[in-house]
Amino acid sequence: MLVLGVESSCDETGLALYDSAAGLLAHALHSQVAMHAEYGGVVPELASRDHIRRIVPLLRSTLARAGKTLADIDAVAYTRGPGLAGALLVGCAFAEALALALGRPTVPVHHLEGHLLSPLLAADPPAFPFVALLVSGGHTQLMKVTGVGAYELLGETLDDAAGEAFDKSAKLLGLPYPGGALLSKLAESGTPGVYTLPRPMLHSGDLDFSFSGLKTAVLTLVREWGEVPDERFRADVARAFQEAVVEVLASKAQKALKVAGLDRLVVAGGVGANRQLRATLDAAAKRRGFSVHYPELEFCTDNGAMIALAGCLRLMAGSPAKAAGSFAVQPRWPLTGLVPA
Ligand code: KG4
Ligand code: ZN
Repeated sequence: MLVLGVESSCDETGLALYDSAAGLLAHALHSQVAMHAEYGGVVPELASRDHIRRIVPLLRSTLARAGKTLADIDAVAYTRGPGLAGALLVGCAFAEALALALGRPTVPVHHLEGHLLSPLLAADPPAFPFVALLVSGGHTQLMKVTGVGAYELLGETLDDAAGEAFDKSAKLLGLPYPGGALLSKLAESGTPGVYTLPRPMLHSGDLDFSFSGLKTAVLTLVREWGEVPDERFRADVARAFQEAVVEVLASKAQKALKVAGLDRLVVAGGVGANRQLRATLDAAAKRRGFSVHYPELEFCTDNGAMIALAGCLRLMAGSPAKAAGSFAVQPRWPLTGLVPA
C-alpha cells in the first residue's frame, strides 16, 4: 500500500511517499523559516500563501524521487490539526481534491501522532509499548503509547512548551527566529556553572512541566547585564538555560518510565534534535538500563514522512479510510481524543 503524506500545519510544507512493505520511498520539504525571519515569527497568512506555492512542485519532486506516478498512490494522508487554520486548510484541500480526482480515500492525521510515531521511520524502530517524550514548539507532553492511536497522557506543560521556551529565550539573547536550534549551538560554547537557572517543577511529584519562568529568569539576567550582551555572556546564559531544560526533561522522562512500568523511551518533536538532551538521556539509559529512541534528525522537526507513516500505520491497523471530497481541519485537537487504530 502506497500512502502520500502531506504536512502543512505551520511553516514547513512536507510531502512524502510511504510504502507499507518498502518503507519511506521519498520525501520533500520546503521550510519557510527565511521568509518569516524578518518578522521575528510565523505570519499565518504568509504561511498559507507559501504552502499554496510550494505544494504541487513538492508533490512532483517526491513522485520523481520515488519513481512513482499519481496512479500508484493508494491513499492520501494529511495533517488535519492541530496547527494554523489557514495553513492546515491548504494541505487538507489539496489532499482531499487530489484523492477525489484519483478515486482514492484520505486519512486525516493528527500532527502530534505524526511526531510521536516518527521514530518508527528509523532503521531499528522501537516496539510498542513505550513512553514518548513529545517536545515540539507547541507541546511538551509525556505519553504512554501502547499502540497506534492508544495514547495515555502522563503529564504536560502547564504553560510554555519546551521549544517555545527555547525560542523565546533565544529572542531575549538577540538570536534570530526560530532561535531554538541557534540557542543550543550557542550553548555549546558556554561554560557550565557561570549562571544557574531554576529547575521548574523538578520535584513537583507529578509529571507536569512549567517553562515560562525560565524565560523570565533569562530576561532578568539580560536586564542585570545592562549593556549590549557580549558573546561570552550570551553563551553562558544559553548554556545555563539549556542545562535547566534538559535536566527537567530528562528527569521527568525517567520518572514517567517508572510510573508506566516500561523501559523504552521515545523522544519526538523539534527539541528532540537537541544534542545535550540526547547525550543526557543516552547516558541515563546506559546507567539505568532502559532504551531510548529518537527520530532521524531530519524527521525531528515538521515533515511529510511522519504524516505518510502515521496514515499508513492507521490503515494497516484497520482504521477506516475516509471517502475523499469533504473536509474540515481541527486547529485545536487534543492527542488523547484520538480513537485507537
Ligand atoms: O516539532 P517542531 O518542528 O514544530 C512543532 O510542531 O511545534 O518543533 C519546532 C521547535 C522549535 O521551537 C525549535 O526552536 C525547536 O523545536 N528546536 C530545538 C532544536 N531544534 C529545533 N530546540 C532545542 N534544540 C534544538 N537543537
Ligand atoms: Zn510539529
